[in-house]
Amino acid sequence: MNNKKLTVAFIGCGRFAKFFVPLFKAHPFTEKVYVCDLIPEKAKLYSERFGVEIINSFEDVLNNKEIDCVINFTQRHIHGEIVTRALKANKHVYSAVPMASTVEECKEIVDLVKQTGLIYLMGETCYYYPCAMYCREAYKEGKFGDFSYGASQYYHHINDIGYGKIAEERGMPPLLYPTHSTAMIISAVDSYVKKVACFGFADKSKDEAFDKDKNMWNNEHTNQYVLMELANGGTARVTEARGFGWGKPSSYISSLYGTKGSYEFSNAQHILVEKDFTAPKEKVNLTDVSDYVNPFDMTANKDLPDFKNRVANGEWQWNNYSPIQQKEIDRLPKEFDSLDNGHMGTHKFLVDDFLKAVYYKKQPILNAWAAARYTVPGLVAIESAKQGGIPLDVPDFGDGK
Ligand SMILES: NC(=O)c1ccc[n+]([C@@H]2O[C@H](COP(=O)([O-])OP(=O)(O)OC[C@H]3O[C@@H](n4cnc5c(N)ncnc54)[C@H](O)[C@@H]3O)[C@@H](O)[C@H]2O)c1
Repeated sequence: MNNKKLTVAFIGCGRFAKFFVPLFKAHPFTEKVYVCDLIPEKAKLYSERFGVEIINSFEDVLNNKEIDCVINFTQRHIHGEIVTRALKANKHVYSAVPMASTVEECKEIVDLVKQTGLIYLMGETCYYYPCAMYCREAYKEGKFGDFSYGASQYYHHINDIGYGKIAEERGMPPLLYPTHSTAMIISAVDSYVKKVACFGFADKSKDEAFDKDKNMWNNEHTNQYVLMELANGGTARVTEARGFGWGKPSSYISSLYGTKGSYEFSNAQHILVEKDFTAPKEKVNLTDVSDYVNPFDMTANKDLPDFKNRVANGEWQWNNYSPIQQKEIDRLPKEFDSLDNGHMGTHKFLVDDFLKAVYYKKQPILNAWAAARYTVPGLVAIESAKQGGIPLDVPDFGDGK
């Protein structure tokens, strides 16, 4: 196999990319890392902090034949343009979430990946969240039976989320950024969305960013709540809230019910209930799977008197692994051992997935088709909410197989 080490260029040196530059730099499949930002001081800070070279502009990246991959960490509403331009310039793409902000852009990315065979990965951290991994595993093992109903959410108050600093980000509809919630529940039950019906909440005490006339999105919803009909016959409720969400965890599956069993979660407790079909009278078997799903350090501290409060304040949910993640930990390069991770220990999995996908020329699990299945339902749901919650069909671009 004619595999070569890869040269990558970060587009965007903001708040999030700093967690990823050291990982890309350390990975054994990386030859060189460039950084680029519209604001030269930001690129300079990154260059000095991480010992990487600056490249002046996105256009220079696109024209530079030495660069194999674009690593997109720009603001969330411009991903469509950045990614399509990168693919058209023959670059593989790692992109922070979401995939894009229109259905047409999502389709164009899928089509470009299909036509070119280039690698695209959407870096959805929640795909590797322990609760999502646990539900995927339990569903595959048949513990839930047929999926009937489940709920997932991403709660992040606008005052803490940090966006809204530039005009285009103000008042953005919450479901423009749906992939934390959708990736968890949809991947757990191995399906995709066929139809959505969505309602929103217009907060009377809101920041004026969510006044319809004061943002470019014509949006007044700080929170959006959507029911999704899935192709497997089940229904998911997904909530994206920017008007509440003070504590942690902020992204999680709160419940998942099937014909044979269910999963429920709160604070730090993960509960599996299975129907006992062998018992003469109706009976269930309840298993507390918290120690398997929670990060090792969280479990080590579970007897502390203020444990639940500390969980609600975000402790043990950044750099820590869980037992359910063990298989994924084992495949990481040793060069990552001493480096920081993030978002429930997920950053390293995403970087490794992408570089291995490009190196071995095989689409990753979080490929363009999966990214579309996690992004498009949110975009269609925004339209449903605008029209008073009418059910709308969601286009599906397949699974790429
Ligand atoms: N858990 C997660 O998956 C997660 C968490 C946080 C952020 N994100 C995503 O990460 C991305 C970045 O978020 P952030 O908070 O770092 O944003 P940010 O606003 O801090 O940084 C974005 C940077 O991109 C730069 N930029 C924009 N267009 C550019 C161009 N054409 N060329 C060069 N630079 C350009 C901007 O100048 C800015 O510095 C967002 O898309 C967000 O959705 C994902």
